[in-house]
Amino acid sequence: MALRQIREVGDNLLRKKSRPVEVVDDKIRQLMDDMYETMKNADDGIGIAAPQVGVLKRVIVIDLGEEGDGHVYKLVNPVIIKQKGEQVCREGCLSVPGVTGDVIRPKEVVVEALDENGKPIKIKAKDLFAICLSHEIDHLDGVLFIDKATEIFEDDENTEEEKK
Ligand code: NI
Repeated sequence: MALRQIREVGDNLLRKKSRPVEVVDDKIRQLMDDMYETMKNADDGIGIAAPQVGVLKRVIVIDLGEEGDGHVYKLVNPVIIKQKGEQVCREGCLSVPGVTGDVIRPKEVVVEALDENGKPIKIKAKDLFAICLSHEIDHLDGVLFIDKATEIFEDDENTEEEKK
């Protein structure tokens, strides 16, 4: 595995639409391993999308840590096929340092994707997991949380926020 550089807001690549992955091969698995390592190396990262490391492919990695089920989700071509309800969450992003924001997200989502072996999977998620899936899938379409936030806050050094 290798650490990759995280692209930050102002980098035009973050605003581009990522392409679907046609074959889940070793190169894609290497990308996901690198994304995972890069996310873990960054403060409080719980999710990361491929464009954040400069790769315009529809790949995301999520590890909710203590708030999750212990599984690291490495997802290819994820699509939200159903969503229900609303919740507001204070979000941060590894690509948008120094700020957080309140974003309205679905309370529950159903996502279809391929896993790291190219097998189709369906995930039912709610609460933080639903927020994180929605945030990461937005990255694949060039959308950042600051585009959707109802209010933006400068980071207070004394608070710890999860970064996605
Ligand atoms: Ni993000």
